[in-house]
Amino acid sequence: MCRSAAAVLTALLCAARLCAAGRNQPLNYRPIIGVLAQENLPDDQYAHGFSYIAASYVKYLEGAGARVVPVRLLLPGGDVDIQTSQYSRAAKIFYDLALKANDAGDYFPIWGTCQGFQQLSVLTANKNLLTLTNTKAVALPLTLTPATQSSRLFRSFPKDLLQSLAEENITANFHKWSLSLQNYSRNAKLKRFYKVLSTNNDGKKEFISTMEAHRYPFYAVQWHPEKTPFEWVDKPGMTHSPAAIRASFYTSSFFVSEAMKNQHHFSSLVEEERALIYNFSPVFRGMNSIFIQNYYFD
Ligand SMILES: *[C@@H]1O[C@H](CO)[C@@H](O)[C@H](O)[C@H]1NC(C)=O
Ligand SMILES: *[C@@H]1O[C@H](CO)[C@@H](O)[C@H](O)[C@H]1NC(C)=O
Repeated sequence: MCRSAAAVLTALLCAARLCAAGRNQPLNYRPIIGVLAQENLPDDQYAHGFSYIAASYVKYLEGAGARVVPVRLLLPGGDVDIQTSQYSRAAKIFYDLALKANDAGDYFPIWGTCQGFQQLSVLTANKNLLTLTNTKAVALPLTLTPATQSSRLFRSFPKDLLQSLAEENITANFHKWSLSLQNYSRNAKLKRFYKVLSTNNDGKKEFISTMEAHRYPFYAVQWHPEKTPFEWVDKPGMTHSPAAIRASFYTSSFFVSEAMKNQHHFSSLVEEERALIYNFSPVFRGMNSIFIQNYYFD
């Protein structure tokens, strides 16, 4: 899958009765976002415990005004299969809870990046429709669809930024699996659930690079907005141009503004403090690492 995953999810770590959110709630200016840890990679010499979160995801959200709670995996995994890993099981729990919450009028956004994108497609289709593409380290311009204009995600982006996204090679792709436009189009569940906001092409297959759900505040990007400002490995596909950094910020700012519509909170400030990522320290993994810093969890 992606060596760089993470689904980002708003925290739901509170008792249901504390979570009841009415309409016309004021925005929650103290949003807390849960980020799902993943099984450690077997070749990670810096790893301890059994799961990790790349610090870039944390900085990305913090930079847009959110605090992060790591959602740690409960069992040692060592398996990164998209249908059987602890990561995928945890993602399914959040996905199901978020569907239920939103159906009950409780705004519960989910964001999936890279493996998070792939995971969302598997959860919605209830099967793995991914296909191999030649996209392991390449920066691409997005081919924006007409749906972009009316999308929640891109609607608020400045015109010149959308133009940069469409014309410059500023979205970082580090994946070998993709959801092709063909498989998406042939799957009724996916088509009903998501609208395609952008596609890309590896020369052979057209794949979906950005999508959002029609009826749920669920968003998925196959590219890596969190890498451009926060990862520094010198590799094809890594880009740090001002437009790339701005695009990154607009995605995180958008998602944090979605999280602000959610009123979930911990049952006490003590519980909140115990759960926040500040209780952990990231490990510096060297300038040539795909993740410059990781958080590790036992
Ligand atoms: C469609 O999905 C199947 C798995 O169900 C996969 O084997 C195949 O490569 C995919 N085809 C394309 C064009 O994405
Ligand atoms: C920019 O993206 C296009 C695909 O739209 C690709 O053909 C081209 O090789 C890329 N250029 C660089 C420098 O990566």
